[in-house]
Amino acid sequence: MKVDVLLGLQWGDEGKGKIVDVLTPQYDIIARFQGGPNAGHTLEFEGIKHVLHTIPSGIFHANVINLVGNGVVIDPVIFQQELQKLEPFGIDFSKRLFISKKAHLILPTHRLLDAASEASKGKNKIGSTLKGIGPTYMDKTGRNGLRVGDIFMPNFKDKYNALVEKHVGILNHHEGFEYDLKALEGPWFEGIEKLKSLPAVDSEHFINQALKDGKRILAEGAQGTMLDIDFGTYPYVTSSNTVTAGTCTGLGVAPTRIGRVIGIFKAYCTRVGSGPFPTELLDEVGEHIRQEGREFGSTTGRPRRCGWVDLPQLKYAIMINGVSELSMMKADVLGKFEKINVCTHYLIDGERFDHFPFDVDGLEVIPVYEELKGWNCDLTQLESYTESPNELKNYVEYLEKMLEIPITVVSVGPDRKQTLLKS
Ligand code: GDP
Ligand code: IMO
Ligand code: MG
Repeated sequence: MKVDVLLGLQWGDEGKGKIVDVLTPQYDIIARFQGGPNAGHTLEFEGIKHVLHTIPSGIFHANVINLVGNGVVIDPVIFQQELQKLEPFGIDFSKRLFISKKAHLILPTHRLLDAASEASKGKNKIGSTLKGIGPTYMDKTGRNGLRVGDIFMPNFKDKYNALVEKHVGILNHHEGFEYDLKALEGPWFEGIEKLKSLPAVDSEHFINQALKDGKRILAEGAQGTMLDIDFGTYPYVTSSNTVTAGTCTGLGVAPTRIGRVIGIFKAYCTRVGSGPFPTELLDEVGEHIRQEGREFGSTTGRPRRCGWVDLPQLKYAIMINGVSELSMMKADVLGKFEKINVCTHYLIDGERFDHFPFDVDGLEVIPVYEELKGWNCDLTQLESYTESPNELKNYVEYLEKMLEIPITVVSVGPDRKQTLLKS
């Protein structure tokens, strides 16, 4: 057996949660491999909208195991809140939600360090979600971090205190940055107790044994390729590998065991936070997309920046991830356009660029567009792809031709049912 991977090809929020939920009936295990509560994955069905941050998006399906892998960073406070929100749905977490002992913990001081670091950057801030992601991954690679397995050890409190002491030393250098650590610690230790009640596993053994036993596994990515620490628009990125390779390190799966790679993108493009975005629309068209697509962050509520789809960017993401099939999301949002633009390449100082340059600081990147006919109608009631308007089919076929990868899913609304399968 192989591990299939589903991940975002743009700057996050492509609709990963929705499609993982749709695909879950085909799998036995859904596993998150990186990121943490910076993620906000939305699922909608039976008139209810759920937003998950740490818990994998397969949690609503009976008999499916959800695994939080070693590559994920966990904030016990947010995790406990997520569990509480799911209480009315009667999910037996002790049988369905497994946590890697090697997953790192986000401490209250990691969140403070994130806030202090962003404040000190002024106009150069990353636009982080302020969930403590960067400082936690820094402690992981700096070999100072605390892991889920540590919470069961007798010296946990000592380890915690030692790390907090280090953090406080750094925080003291941020002049004028005020905080109340004691107030944050109470809920954090409560969250740790809750975490202890869930099965903590050696997840790399767990997942490889599952593969041996013939279990079907889907790895769920967080963020998107352009936010990857190595391949994204650095430094305006997150602190983990969001790409397919992150599945190997974030779950302990060998590269030879990767199967299908499903890349998700919106029929347009969005970004939340700072950093380059060549096709961004700062005019009323961008505002129209934002309103129609309800483009406000699932985690922070911030308005998302909106723009046209960007082929050089998508080709790059397909290359890095080895994408085998595509899901195109939110086609319904473009339902009021006579014409739709697709960026085919960029011009910088009059020179043609087919991929994003190393650094665009101080450069004007001009996107060059091909104009396609819009479908200009409501897609949200469509029940099959064959019924869809010719302009939508032309758009899909154009993208397939340019990207050289089949689009197998077209999404026309937030609900589970608003998903058109195209073989
Ligand atoms: P994720 O982080 O990739 O899981 O995506 P988010 O949940 O942050 O953002 C996607 C948003 O778009 C959510 O509010 C979804 O409910 C919504 N959504 C997903 N697919 C569609 C779609 O096809 N059409 C519309 N209109 N909304 C969608
Ligand atoms: P999902 O999984 C969109 C962005 C932040 C910021 C940058 C760094 O829902 O697609 P961080 O808190 O990670 O240090 O922030 O990354 N970012 C996301 N943008 N969707 C996400 O997750 C994101 N997670 C982080 O806005 O620009
Ligand atoms: Mg999101």
